Amino acid sequence: LFGFKTNKVSGYFNPIGPSKEDKLILPNGFKYDVIAAMDDVINKDGDKFGDGSDYNAFLPIDGSNTRGLLVNNHEYTGIFSVGPIKDGQMTAEQIQKNLYYQGMSVIEVYRDENGTWKMDTKSKYARRITGFTKIELTGPARGNAAVGNATTVQGTFANCSGGVTLWNTVLSCEENFTETAVASKLDVTHYGWVVEIDPFDKSFLKKHTALGRFSHENTAMGLAADGRVVVYMGDDKKDACVYKFVSNGKYDKAKGRANSALLESGTLFVANLKFGKWMAVTIDEVLKVLGSETFKAPAGVTAKREDLLKKYKTQADIVVNCAEAALLVGGTPTDRPEDIEISPFDNTVFICHTNNDLHGNIHGHITRIFESGNDLGALEFDFEIFAAGGRQSGFSSPDNLAFDSNGSLWVVTDISSGSLNKGVHQSFMNNGLFVIPTSGRDKGVAYQFASGPVECEMTGPFFTPDEQTLFLSVQHPGEETTDLNNPTSRWPHRAGDTKPRAAVVAISGFNLG
Ligand code: FEO
Ligand code: CA
Ligand code: CA
Ligand code: CA
Repeated sequence: LFGFKTNKVSGYFNPIGPSKEDKLILPNGFKYDVIAAMDDVINKDGDKFGDGSDYNAFLPIDGSNTRGLLVNNHEYTGIFSVGPIKDGQMTAEQIQKNLYYQGMSVIEVYRDENGTWKMDTKSKYARRITGFTKIELTGPARGNAAVGNATTVQGTFANCSGGVTLWNTVLSCEENFTETAVASKLDVTHYGWVVEIDPFDKSFLKKHTALGRFSHENTAMGLAADGRVVVYMGDDKKDACVYKFVSNGKYDKAKGRANSALLESGTLFVANLKFGKWMAVTIDEVLKVLGSETFKAPAGVTAKREDLLKKYKTQADIVVNCAEAALLVGGTPTDRPEDIEISPFDNTVFICHTNNDLHGNIHGHITRIFESGNDLGALEFDFEIFAAGGRQSGFSSPDNLAFDSNGSLWVVTDISSGSLNKGVHQSFMNNGLFVIPTSGRDKGVAYQFASGPVECEMTGPFFTPDEQTLFLSVQHPGEETTDLNNPTSRWPHRAGDTKPRAAVVAISGFNLG
């Protein structure tokens, strides 16, 4: 079925098999260029590319498919950026590094006349956003006691996946923020939000509290039938919920970036999979539930009713304590919802439930939601398990998703480094990138497109508009290393390198042009 026929990465390819090699392996006819790796200088100021590369977004400059801004999330640090941590206690210097190496990079990238993708360090846009950058809060929690009355906060970190808005800004999701916040003695309520940046304007930085505070994986933005903005979001924790935010106002293309205000007021909903209903996560609903004669705390909520009644006074309390409030109103705990994508073909919504060992869901699955009337603004839905991880499908622990114009899902896997190549994970070998058609004869069948180097996961697949290039991050190669002199990976194996580096690559066909 597959053979290399077109210039598009998303065209045909001969699938590869799993591998344990310390290499990024691609099908015949494809190559990759390392665009930026941890510690690479990104601009004239000497700012450096961060660690733990995750989400990528490519924003064309002047409509180009070969020059644009690449926004990359830096999710976490490791031994290669902050060094070995003694007795679980970072030194003052390590705390500073930990904040610097997380956050985001905006870099300018281009494809040269030889077809090689490179970073343009002379760019006027290239910059870092780190754990030190000042960011404004918007929405119900802004200035509220629930966030210590803050209207601006220090920095962003634990930036996992994200999404591009309809008005061409980038959303970045703060996921596992607690460790860094605690180690840095920062207020934990200032993290766990969705951050919006404008890659072309460094003065525009916001955290939208209306979208809730939890272990945010991603955002997937679309429009309801009536023009309101809808944002689907996963809370990547065991037994956590799937959310969607629906704006009060309607999207107006002519308003451009001013549409960002739509993310400041709206209704946050949580999915109840038992009844196929979106439940409003609002102060009114929570107080109604707590006031009921028959109140019984749902699984996952341990606090007593009287304490909950003291805690929840306003919508600010709801968004700050979102995961608990969602369970109270009937949200269904699920198996670690990671990335979500809206099908551009039929408005169905694909969710990676990566795994959950509490329920023996070791290999995870991809859930597909059918909104009532194919309207993203609907309050009712149906769903199916679109694809299940395991030996039969050849993948385990699906994480990030991207659609191509053929209607295929590009799925990266995240088997944890400690489980790789062991026990029930043996047959999958290193983490990979798979292509799964969502319709036609091969619907739901996974074909492997890439295999990553040792102990990495690949993250942030993102196509150029012409699909001739696929950007992809290689996150935490050599993650299990304990001795810096003897790393378990040295990827990307650049001349003189003695350690592995998280990096972003551009994948393209050999026969471009
Ligand atoms: Fe950061 Fe949920 O992966
Ligand atoms: Ca992820
Ligand atoms: Ca993951
Ligand atoms: Ca990860």
